[in-house]
Amino acid sequence: MTAHTSARDARTAPHTVAVIGAGYVGLPTAATLAHFGHTVVLAEHDPTRLSALRSGRMPIVEVGLDDLVAGGVAAGTLSFTESAVEAVAGAEFVFLCVATPQSTDGSADLSYVEAAAKEIADHLMPGAIVVNKSTVPVGSATMVEQVMGRPDVGVVSNPEFLREGSAVLDSLNPDRIVVGADDSQAAAKVGELFSSTLAPLIVTDATTSETIKYASNAFLATKLSFVNALAGLCEEVGADARDVLLGLGYDKRIGFEFLRPGPGWGGSCLPKDTRALLHIAREAGYDFSLLAGAIASNDEQLTRVVSKVEDACGGSVDKATLGVWGLTFKANTDDRRDSPSLQISHRLRELGATVQAFDPTVEAEAEPPEDLRGLHLRADPYEAATGAQVLVVLTEWDEFRWLDFSRVLAVMAEPCIVDARNLLDPAAVRRMGFHYAGIGRR
Ligand code: NAD
Ligand code: UGA
Repeated sequence: MTAHTSARDARTAPHTVAVIGAGYVGLPTAATLAHFGHTVVLAEHDPTRLSALRSGRMPIVEVGLDDLVAGGVAAGTLSFTESAVEAVAGAEFVFLCVATPQSTDGSADLSYVEAAAKEIADHLMPGAIVVNKSTVPVGSATMVEQVMGRPDVGVVSNPEFLREGSAVLDSLNPDRIVVGADDSQAAAKVGELFSSTLAPLIVTDATTSETIKYASNAFLATKLSFVNALAGLCEEVGADARDVLLGLGYDKRIGFEFLRPGPGWGGSCLPKDTRALLHIAREAGYDFSLLAGAIASNDEQLTRVVSKVEDACGGSVDKATLGVWGLTFKANTDDRRDSPSLQISHRLRELGATVQAFDPTVEAEAEPPEDLRGLHLRADPYEAATGAQVLVVLTEWDEFRWLDFSRVLAVMAEPCIVDARNLLDPAAVRRMGFHYAGIGRR
């Protein structure tokens, strides 16, 4: 089947939609479709997430999501249920937005997709269309068809490209809508649900659509690995990575997006999706060494940041007290899945350091959640810096830039900052008396 793109018609007829899974994708998707005028029932079987939604609270941190959800609820176009079976009754379209975590062999674990497909199979309306919005490998549309055993129901791949932290903005203004199916009419119908966005529509086959999703994340990850490696080279040759990247970014073919060096790329998707694509390539007998290199290079970046902190401590962090600012995988989200900040914090702890950490989304509870065990959680950034030999900036929360650095200087044991996000102004903090090390920066 040949892919084609087209400009969109802003008019959209209202449809009945079910969304399964109220996570980082399902919730913005449901709220956006309701905002476009469709009648949406969102199913979430996690009681904590569901009760938050029912009482008007957001179960995830996402700018603007509360207003979008409240708007849908007030208009009567968005409602919630714990039961996927209940949600799909009467739905013309059913979006699967469940997790696809990494399996031990690197492949995508499709058990949640499979379970949801099984759960709804006997309850779908004849002629309904099931939409795979979860990130799933090539062949998953066929797998869902087989699991459901409903030849009267269509299955369409519709990958999601939103970013956490700007999920609402991305959902309302996507760069493109991709839909793929053997039945191009079914695919086009799914595309029409989003016609209010005016985004270019790519209608293709399911295999191509599934590949586009992994290719996008793998490309972004490879770009970041290049940027981080380049920043490392800049340090060796004495170039300033900031200016080098400015020089690159003005080339319109390269652009400024995804050019910020950091502690390594992470999050709930780039790491698992690059590994899943590598697994797909391996299964197909294709040697995708470029992608393998990008993944290995990212692991090296984490190690480089740990080494920077060791250097700042005079060679070893054993018995050192370190302040850490930021634990989420990037700013403006509460998501810590595969967070480089967390991985670096734990590596420093394993090397003998006492790590005092602050993150705006983490409460300094007496009993920390599993992934934070061993870290000393602090209630504010000054407390995290108190008594520290080195302060490590690991997540780029904007509020860190506006703190009282004379107070930070006063509470620290040594005036030393390792800024793994290049968040601070090196000249300004050096003027105050700090030793400062950024990424690729003089
Ligand atoms: P998530 O874990 O935050 O959300 C999934 C939700 O589905 C959970 O709340 C879970 O309780 C619920 N669920 C699972 N099975 C259910 C069922 N049968 N009935 C009702 N609820 C059910 O996951 P996520 O981050 O939203 O990711 C979902 C998918 O979207 C993944 O494949 C991911 O790769 C992809 N994706 C994620 C992002 C992102 O930014 N997080 C962006 C694009 C694509
Ligand atoms: C990423 C993609 O950007 C989305 O398009 C995609 O839909 C999503 O994965 C997904 O499939 O789940 P997200 O995980 O929200 O979105 O985060 P990104 O903004 O892509 O950042 C990923 C990692 O790269 C973070 O650790 C971030 O700090 C890092 N990063 C990003 C940098 O170090 N420098 C940059 O310039 C940009």
